[in-house]
Amino acid sequence: MEEKQYHITIQLNGEPRAFTVGEQETLLHVLREKAGLTGAKKGCDLGECGACTVIMDGRAVNSCCVFAVSADGKRVETIEGIGTEEHPHPLQQAFIDAGAIQCGFCTPGMIMAAKALLDRNPHPTKEEVRQAMSGNLCRCTGYEKIEQAIGMAAEVVARYAQGKGEQA
Ligand code: FES
Ligand code: FES
Repeated sequence: MEEKQYHITIQLNGEPRAFTVGEQETLLHVLREKAGLTGAKKGCDLGECGACTVIMDGRAVNSCCVFAVSADGKRVETIEGIGTEEHPHPLQQAFIDAGAIQCGFCTPGMIMAAKALLDRNPHPTKEEVRQAMSGNLCRCTGYEKIEQAIGMAAEVVARYAQGKGEQA
């Protein structure tokens, strides 16, 4: 029997995008195969590695474990929506500056998990950083440089927020 199809709309990186999806189809599949956004990676496909992390309505989620139908009407942010090569997000710049990238496979998921953290808690403690990143695995770097990068980005984000506050 053919899988039932649903029409959904996602606010994807700020733009409304409509998709027709199967009942069992994951958000990760829609992002990679239908939206052409291949930044979120398919690692374990089991909710264990965090390579597929995106932000849905302000929360970091493993997109391999989210049914696309449940993303209907939600805001989804992917790595493609947060910075460009010319204007990287402070987290992207900090990962480069701290040498927190080797093969890079885990990096988009790491950055999205870190962004979700800094969006809700701009001054996380080391322990809070560790906890927020505990679902994201990296086979290459060790985690010290990643934690360092998040600390550096937090400082930049805080300075930027302060600057904006002063101007207001
Ligand atoms: S691919 Fe989703 S958690 Fe590993
Ligand atoms: S940089 Fe290779 S898995 Fe993290």
